[in-house]
Amino acid sequence: MPLVADLWSFLHDRIGLFEACAASGDAVRIRLGPRRVLVLSDPDLIREVFVHESKHFVRGITGTPLRWLVGEGLLLSEGEVWRRQRRDVSPLFGRDRVAQWIPSIESAAATLVSRWRDGEQRDVYYEMHRLTLDVAARLFLGIGSADDGRLHPALEALLDQEFSGTIRLGPLRWPIRSGAATRALDELVSRQIAVAGSSAGGPFIDTIAATARDGREVRDQLMTLIITAQETTAVALAWLWHLLSRNERVESELRTEIERSALTGGTTHPYLMTVLNETLRLFPPVIAQAREATRECVIGGVPVRRGDLVVFSQWVIHRDGRWFEQPGVFLPDRWRDGLEERLHPFAYFPFGGGRRVCVGRELALTVARTVVPIIARHFRLLSIPGYEPRISAVIMPRPRNGLPMRLVRLQPS
Ligand code: HEM
Repeated sequence: MPLVADLWSFLHDRIGLFEACAASGDAVRIRLGPRRVLVLSDPDLIREVFVHESKHFVRGITGTPLRWLVGEGLLLSEGEVWRRQRRDVSPLFGRDRVAQWIPSIESAAATLVSRWRDGEQRDVYYEMHRLTLDVAARLFLGIGSADDGRLHPALEALLDQEFSGTIRLGPLRWPIRSGAATRALDELVSRQIAVAGSSAGGPFIDTIAATARDGREVRDQLMTLIITAQETTAVALAWLWHLLSRNERVESELRTEIERSALTGGTTHPYLMTVLNETLRLFPPVIAQAREATRECVIGGVPVRRGDLVVFSQWVIHRDGRWFEQPGVFLPDRWRDGLEERLHPFAYFPFGGGRRVCVGRELALTVARTVVPIIARHFRLLSIPGYEPRISAVIMPRPRNGLPMRLVRLQPS
């Protein structure tokens, strides 16, 4: 019963389904209910969809579950609207502009560690969410920690919603969406839009308010930036701490680099970059992407009809032995000698590719490069003996029951 079996696997064990497809070939046809789906596991074929044939593919129905939250912002818009939105916000994500945000990011990290106590156990996944929400609110809404009175209730409500669990029926799961959290964030966004143009808003909100078509688009764009920025970066950071806690040698080498740079006033952390690359390889925050064909074409010798979906999974391709030696092992050293430049661009692509490549890549890397040294100088994060996280992956690889870890305060050197 392939028609039912594929849909069942898709809902129940998405990573397992993509792995099974990759094991049977580089271009495998499956059915998800009435939809014809082509699963690609070869970087050349993925490049065909993302680059050579990109004008015949749109995000289409694949963004539907998010639409209630982010509307027609940059993530889900298409055509002329997308082109305008992308052109208007891209300059804000350039390297020099992002560097100007480092003090705000440092402040958010300092606030986080000031709340932590020696010896306590915390869910590091939840903590990384708080951190990245805080960063997103400071950057995109111009809200600083001085405004905690307004910021935290809305952000915490969104977090609580995110962590409030799901309704389950056998293997089927739906997130509980009270709507209250979204309304709270919506109100906060509207309040900040009202002050756009004054010094309180900040460059993101000002640029978006000045270039968007109407108030609805301003709201959608800001919600898009907040949601895309915080969730992905939080997932990456959470798995980074998890991997470090299980790899003593890597953790110790990273600490040495961070301590040395603190003493010398250095700002670059080459080893941290290899750790980040390796984390994004093994735990890509977006496990898979999909596109919908707008007309007939042939990909990898397989005919694709209008309305078909084409899917490719970073999770599976990043763990493919054809491109990575010892693919299942956490080995930051593999990135030391320019591996990224030698690899096919779609053998390692945590930020996607083609014209819709992640606009926030530089910001995400800057957040990680800034917060990891601050946290590491204050605390060691130790895994809880016997605790093995289970992954729940719809779009992001989330630890199903969180990532509880023991915090050990360090004496500043
Ligand atoms: C480690 C962190 C991140 C990862 C792994 C990541 C990954 C991705 C991926 C794979 C896409 C392509 C989605 C698709 O085309 O189907 C994407 C798009 C996007 N990302 Fe990120 N992202 C991260 C952080 C951020 C940050 C910090 C922002 C800042 C606002 C951001 C904003 C966006 C936006 C707006 C898009 C849509 C771009 C477009 O369609 O033109 N992301 N991201």
